[in-house]
Amino acid sequence: MITLDDFDTFPDFPVPGVLFYDIAPILASPALFRAACDALTPPPGEGVDLIAGVDARGFIFAPVIAQDLGLGMTMVRKKGKMPGELLQADATIEYGSSELTLNPQGIEGKRVLVIDDVLATGGTALAVADLLERAGAASVQFGFLLEIGALPGREVLAGHLVHSALVV
Ligand code: PRP
Ligand code: MG
Repeated sequence: MITLDDFDTFPDFPVPGVLFYDIAPILASPALFRAACDALTPPPGEGVDLIAGVDARGFIFAPVIAQDLGLGMTMVRKKGKMPGELLQADATIEYGSSELTLNPQGIEGKRVLVIDDVLATGGTALAVADLLERAGAASVQFGFLLEIGALPGREVLAGHLVHSALVV
């Protein structure tokens, strides 16, 4: 099982007023990394066809979960990293903004589980949902390792299933 004590915390990073939860100690421990991936993996029969990993830290966990479930994975990447015909969305996040891109091929009609490490304001996840829905996803649900309960991420994602392994 994974707990809040398994994260390192850094006040005022990357900007003043933000408490950064660092997953490095979890990655450094095979047992904790396994526990984190297990906590992010829905039970079989949950109705998921495809895993979407969110650049960058979601990429660490998403492929493990895709493999464990025997599913494929797609990447939601920050702008400028992928070739081809892409969809693009702006994400306003806790400490700035970013532009996310998605290749829409192979998403039509799929029930997608989006994996990321942290849910804070929900800005990133909302942009990911927008991209996947524009690509024709049948449904979009979310799995996070850590949810910052004081921020409105869960409200922002109203209408989507949201599973967080830990809430702080
Ligand atoms: C962080 C985190 C989530 C997002 C959560 O990503 O990994 O993706 O912020 O914040 P939000 O709910 O306010 O959108 P970030 O882009 O900062 O860094 P990363 O590239 O290391 O994942
Ligand atoms: Mg991120």
